[in-house]
Amino acid sequence: TYVATYKVSALVSVRVALKRMLNFNVPHVKNSTGEPVWKVLIYDRFGQDIISPLLSVKELRDMGITLHLLLHSDRDPIPDVPAVYFVMPTEENIDRMCQDLRNQLYESYYLNFISAISRSKLEDIANAALAASAVTQVAKVFDQYLNFITLEDDMFVLCNQNKELVSYRAINRPDITDTEMETVMDTIVDSLFCFFVTLGAVPIIRCSRGTAAEMVAVKLDKKLRENLRDARNSLFTGDTLGAGQFSFQRPLLVLVDRNIDLATPLHHTWTYQALVHDVLDFHLNRVNLEETSGVENSPAGARPKRKNKKSYDLTPVDKFWQKHKGSPFPEVAESVQQELESYRAQEDEVKRLKSIMGLEGEDEGAISMLSDNTAKLTSAVSSLPELLEKKRLIDLHTNVATAVLEHIKARKLDVYFEYEEKIMSKTTLDKSLLDIISDPDAGTPEDKMRLFLIYYISTQQAPSEADLEQYKKALTDAGCNLNPLQYIKQWKAFTKMASAPASYGSTTTKSMGLLSRVMNTGSQFVMEGVKNLVLKQQNLPVTRILDNLMEMKSNPETDDYRYFDPKMLRGGNYIEYQNLVDYIKGKQGKHILYGCSELFNATQFIKQLSQLGQK
Ligand SMILES: *[C@@H]1O[C@H](CO)[C@@H](O)[C@H](O)[C@H]1NC(C)=O
Ligand SMILES: *[C@@H]1O[C@H](CO)[C@@H](O)[C@H](O)[C@H]1NC(C)=O
Repeated sequence: TYVATYKVSALVSVRVALKRMLNFNVPHVKNSTGEPVWKVLIYDRFGQDIISPLLSVKELRDMGITLHLLLHSDRDPIPDVPAVYFVMPTEENIDRMCQDLRNQLYESYYLNFISAISRSKLEDIANAALAASAVTQVAKVFDQYLNFITLEDDMFVLCNQNKELVSYRAINRPDITDTEMETVMDTIVDSLFCFFVTLGAVPIIRCSRGTAAEMVAVKLDKKLRENLRDARNSLFTGDTLGAGQFSFQRPLLVLVDRNIDLATPLHHTWTYQALVHDVLDFHLNRVNLEETSGVENSPAGARPKRKNKKSYDLTPVDKFWQKHKGSPFPEVAESVQQELESYRAQEDEVKRLKSIMGLEGEDEGAISMLSDNTAKLTSAVSSLPELLEKKRLIDLHTNVATAVLEHIKARKLDVYFEYEEKIMSKTTLDKSLLDIISDPDAGTPEDKMRLFLIYYISTQQAPSEADLEQYKKALTDAGCNLNPLQYIKQWKAFTKMASAPASYGSTTTKSMGLLSRVMNTGSQFVMEGVKNLVLKQQNLPVTRILDNLMEMKSNPETDDYRYFDPKMLRGGNYIEYQNLVDYIKGKQGKHILYGCSELFNATQFIKQLSQLGQK
């Protein structure tokens, strides 16, 4: 996990860089009619992952991109149109680009590399261009330094395509070789380097000792130093994106190893975005839902429910999402309901005006009233697109929140969340762990395993062998695979020697009376039986580490952190991200960007733990 404190928006910097690239790397190319020039965009899966969460198809069209195609797909020649490429500088990609040159697919070629291309590969392209007599058509070659994916204004993830390569499992495998470890570190460092080139600032780096984070820090420090020393080719000259006006400010990069806190990524959560990531299929800002629509009657007779696939983009331009992604779930349900009611009121107003107009239009005497209503109707009609967009967002969030609510109810996720919070904050438990594990109505086997692992990670005193056997039996009876526990046992024995386990502060939830609005009949959300839990802000381990370092507080947890100044790392999750966002709200003039080498949900993380625990 990478936490950088800095004043610029990652999202804005990357969008600016992408738009400039799609404009042939000059600001605003327009043809004589003032329209953007038509062009095709050719990308690989890496490029697609970087662009798709940031630019919509409409925005691409507005920039003149009529067609976007994968590099390794069958593409027909379009000889009178320029092509913008956005790909990784891999051997396979370069070969394919050379083939395009030979086949004279496009009018001209703007070649953009996600990460810096090597001298020798550049020569390969030059030779191919020569052989195809296409030298003049290869308009330009650019290194874009965009090898990371921006998901939010203040959140990024390193990569998606080869995420197994940099996963928690990859780094913690007992049989990883030195060469493999080097490759992992180089991959991470390349992305982080790109991130700071795009921000246009050289960070001060802090990290814990003796961890993978330290290896990354050493390598990143070296790479930044080498680039700064090469004054002629330095990427940090001050005129890079976004940095100019803030160049007196240096970002602080805190690199943290996932092993400092294994409980948070397993924790059940209660805020909207983190819940969507936990229980639904949410990936690169897009959520895929399977909606079951009732019984279908076909000529062949009644068929069972049919699954209807839907996907929605949850992006920073969605105002409801922006406002509520960090809110506790009951508040989200209430807000959707409120939005719906205010939409209906607006809709009724339009209808009312229309009907009055219809009636009064026949009444010659009511001219003045008519013109008054005409003005109102005109304004209502002109806000129609806005109203329709509002309706679209309400429907979207109704569907998404309903899908989340189904999981909460079916698995009693409120109970899990509240109980785990108590375990992590060492509050007295009102119910025995065994009771929850053996309750057939509470949670999936995976929910039970997550709960037990959190308990096992958070207790100072490991349970006795006899107790452990009893838990194991209950877990097995509930259908759990015990491999993750096997790994956590070894991990705990090891970290006990290395350092104290992470602590999580005191009580964090409070049960409130039920929200009347949500409980109203006629509400979209039937919340009956679900606890109305509210959150109290508590700093998670990552937030606490950042707070110590940023505020220069002395604390045994961070006092021996290493310090690099060439002029912190681990797997991430939305729970930690939200905790940092909440923390920084109280700090005037400070900004946080959260990043991670991989962004996993608990299911994916527990799968890795299970693989690590296999004998
Ligand atoms: C300018 O671009 C628009 C849209 O791409 C196109 O319709 C128009 O013909 C172009 N005009 C010239 C003079 O190239
Ligand atoms: C977890 O993430 C994976 C990969 O994005 C996804 O397929 C899955 O639906 C997600 N959620 C759950 C609950 O498994």
